[in-house]
Amino acid sequence: MKTIGILTSGGDAPGMNAAIRAVVRAGIYNGFKVMGIRQGYNGLINGDIYEMNLSSVADIIHRGGTMLRSARSEEFKTEKGFKKALNVLEVFGIDGLVVLGGDGTLKGAREISNASIPTIGIPCTIDNDCGYSDFTIGFFTAVETVVDAISKIRDTSTSHGRANVIEVMGRHCGDIALYAGLAGGAESIIVPEVEFNIDEVCKKAIQGKNRGKLHHIIVLAEGVGNAYDVSKAIEEKTGIDTRVTVLGYIQRGGNPTSYDRIIASKMGSKAIDLLKEGKSGRALGIKCNSIIDMDINDALKVEKSFDIEMYDTTKILSI
Ligand code: F6P
Repeated sequence: MKTIGILTSGGDAPGMNAAIRAVVRAGIYNGFKVMGIRQGYNGLINGDIYEMNLSSVADIIHRGGTMLRSARSEEFKTEKGFKKALNVLEVFGIDGLVVLGGDGTLKGAREISNASIPTIGIPCTIDNDCGYSDFTIGFFTAVETVVDAISKIRDTSTSHGRANVIEVMGRHCGDIALYAGLAGGAESIIVPEVEFNIDEVCKKAIQGKNRGKLHHIIVLAEGVGNAYDVSKAIEEKTGIDTRVTVLGYIQRGGNPTSYDRIIASKMGSKAIDLLKEGKSGRALGIKCNSIIDMDINDALKVEKSFDIEMYDTTKILSI
């Protein structure tokens, strides 16, 4: 193998740039020619590809977003689009690929590797919804952003004696809500993995108020439902003035935390080691603080589990 390609696809995640840097630098160090593919699978289909050098990835380790840009490609999911992508790989002489992204992106990587192109997947998504890996690149940076927002909203919540519903991302996964809710000292955390009872949330708000608590923070994962409906129900049932903040895309941006930069750098250079060893169809991840790689077909079959013990702890600590 002489030439490898790298692409980022799906929702961007802080730390993608650190991973790109690691793949490019470790790739060149190991004698590969490294081709950057812009805008994910769309760029692969359209041949939006250029050769990268050591300087291409200078000054990016600390930046959010992805210098290769990203897209959610519908065309790649079609038979025609997929064939086009394989054809472009051949035309550019790319005989190995490193793919960075979430669950959907890794499924694309699986298909390419099953078509006999050595491919390595690196899990990058703020959602932390890849079941085979304890954490994904970008998750802890998003958690930091949410915790910062919770602290700021808590100030004004206290000043006005209000309840504040804060809606966070995560698609169908409640991890951002759970981790940020615990670190931010939220009174209630509502996630898709645990059935929630609005009366319990209201009871907690009233009990808190009765013992002199001035603020009340409810972190709601987007996968549960609409924050405005939850807010309206709380206000109607408790009489407490309630406000909503939908944090949205600020969770996807910003400088990656050290942890995200470190795991991104480790996984990026490990991807090159695997390609050098002639491995294919591997998904990288992190388990018990160690970087692991496993068969990508098996990795994608692992269901995401929810840390119910941690969730129960948040309930005890927020009484
Ligand atoms: O997968 C990351 C994520 O930010 C989810 O948390 C969110 O539901 C989704 O992407 C938003 O997608 P889009 O960028 O397509 O609006």
